[in-house]
Amino acid sequence: MTIFFMVIIGYLLGSIPSGVWIGKFFFKKDPRQFGSGNSGTTNTFRVLGKTAGTTVLLMDILKGTLATCLPQLLHSDINPLWIGLAAVMGHTFPIFAGFKGGKAVATSAGMLLGYQPLFFIYSASIFIFSLLITSMVSLTSMVSAVLITLSTFVLPFIWPTVLPELDWLLIIIACGLTIFIFIRHRENIKRILNGTESRVPFGLGTKK
Ligand code: G3P
Repeated sequence: MTIFFMVIIGYLLGSIPSGVWIGKFFFKKDPRQFGSGNSGTTNTFRVLGKTAGTTVLLMDILKGTLATCLPQLLHSDINPLWIGLAAVMGHTFPIFAGFKGGKAVATSAGMLLGYQPLFFIYSASIFIFSLLITSMVSLTSMVSAVLITLSTFVLPFIWPTVLPELDWLLIIIACGLTIFIFIRHRENIKRILNGTESRVPFGLGTKK
């Protein structure tokens, strides 16, 4: 199968608007009309609760993982990161939900899981650790994106078990996605700066 068709399949997979469909089907609510207006995991937790939020998290990660594994499943030598990236774009601009989707975080994580599982575990640890310090998912997403991108440069030299070699496509995509994640979080950045960003009820940054 050509890279063109695989990119289309990756995009369509990423376009499955898990938060929107779960919200409309089970709760008669579109999460994009409440809370932060986002359709991703954090806002689904906020608007629809733990079960829906966890389901959306797993589905959004899975979309990125499945897309990234597609070349291997189809015995193609296309670099899986391109198809994972197509899924991230689908997740952010979903054709099945008016091109109004998430902020690229969970599906990017899924891409890492499909590409390099140990690096995913390392990245997830950075995310959890940052969340415990900041108590803000948005800030955690941005800080983690920066730290994970820096790690793509450094880990091959200091911890090659996790990332064996300098992988230039991974580095370029990580840099691009970090900028993209910041752009997608611009409303969150304003709220962080004026002290109104919502926080999770745990971690050092929780307001008592
Ligand atoms: O991945 C999205 C998260 O970083 C922020 O979500 O709903 O608080 O804007 P939200």
